[in-house]
Amino acid sequence: MLKLSFLSGILLGFASAAALAAPDGAKLYAQNCAACHGEAGNGGIGIPLSLPSFHATVDDDYLRQTIRLGRPGRVMPAFSQLKHDEVEAIIRHLRSWYQGKPPIYSAAPVKGDVKRGQSLFEKHCAGCHGANGEGGHGTGVTFSRPRDFPIMPPALHNPGFLASAKDALIKTTLAKGRAGTPMVAFGQRGFSDRDLNDVVAFVRSFERAPLAGSATILETDSAILSMDSPHDLKTTVENIKLAIGNNNFVFIREQKLESGLVPEGQEAPAEHIVYFCNFGLLNQALATDPRVGLFLPCRITVVEREGKVKMLVANPKRLSRIFNNSELNEMCDQVTNMYKSIMEEAAL
Ligand code: HEC
Ligand code: HEC
Repeated sequence: MLKLSFLSGILLGFASAAALAAPDGAKLYAQNCAACHGEAGNGGIGIPLSLPSFHATVDDDYLRQTIRLGRPGRVMPAFSQLKHDEVEAIIRHLRSWYQGKPPIYSAAPVKGDVKRGQSLFEKHCAGCHGANGEGGHGTGVTFSRPRDFPIMPPALHNPGFLASAKDALIKTTLAKGRAGTPMVAFGQRGFSDRDLNDVVAFVRSFERAPLAGSATILETDSAILSMDSPHDLKTTVENIKLAIGNNNFVFIREQKLESGLVPEGQEAPAEHIVYFCNFGLLNQALATDPRVGLFLPCRITVVEREGKVKMLVANPKRLSRIFNNSELNEMCDQVTNMYKSIMEEAAL
């Protein structure tokens, strides 16, 4: 593509500047989206973006807003750094997978009975989308257990989704479903127009009742948790190894960065890193968000400076903030508490 337009630009000698300057949607997609949604949009961690049933039910506004806002608290990031032209180029690339004409929806609200919609939702939707519309758990990518869903049901009780989807889009999605995914076509399952309206009204009502603990970003105290040790460096390291076992972690290895490599008086402070792991938690974390792998295994650094020994560990709460995934929040809280008890025990 790029090569062609470059060549024709030289050959023709005009109208090439604009063509070269236009952002390349395929390339932007490959860089920003393909890792999760698949090279050809066939899905993976993210849901498929190439299916005709998807394109037939979503308008360009929905794509634009979803890319911009992401789905806070879910794995789908917000791409606020992309320029307007770049987002439009990505949308053109997504639409290149579709032969038909995408819908255009009015922004008019759909009126319905929220209470009635709620009972329909509990009966027909909650099993997949969660009792409160919080979506399926994890990413669908698992390492040690079978997948619960071939495609993870997205969160509906989500500020990114609600800000992107017009009522008419939700109604059409319910009526037509998404052929090729588990999402049912309720229009063909005996739902009346009234049923559809009532469910849409209920989904819209999520906006007025933010989900506790979802889409919020954890308070992060600091990037590093640290604790002083009353012991010398060697004893502290040995204590950490014992405490690791007591807290259901497995010791992996120890790395010593000892002084002596540089002329006397210029040594770095003595530093040991203890690596450890809890394989149950590891699998759970990776299934929730594979990017966690970048920060594994767990490690505690012990440093000695002017006779004082300190234990340092990266604050796991920073992880869930970076990854914008509320499912990681609980796990990060759990791991933070474990780190604290390991360090407290080591300091005893
Ligand atoms: C058998 C599981 C299942 C059931 C039951 C189900 N859904 Fe879905 N739903 C899904 C999946 C999976 C997707 C993602 C489809 C895709 O990949 O395009 C989805 C997509 C959606 C979407 C589009 C949102 C988005 O971000 O893609 C809406 C809206 C939706 N469902 C609402 C509902 C409602 C309301 C009900 C009940 C009336 C319902 N669904 C029942 C599995 C289900
Ligand atoms: C880190 C993984 C990841 C990346 C990167 C990512 N997405 Fe997503 N995306 C997801 C997940 C997961 C969902 C489903 C949200 C949910 O589970 O609630 C999603 C949902 C979506 C949806 C809503 C689909 C529907 O059925 O309504 C669109 C549209 C979308 N992504 C487009 C993109 C585009 C375009 C890019 C690149 C600019 C991108 N995504 C990058 C993971 C990702």
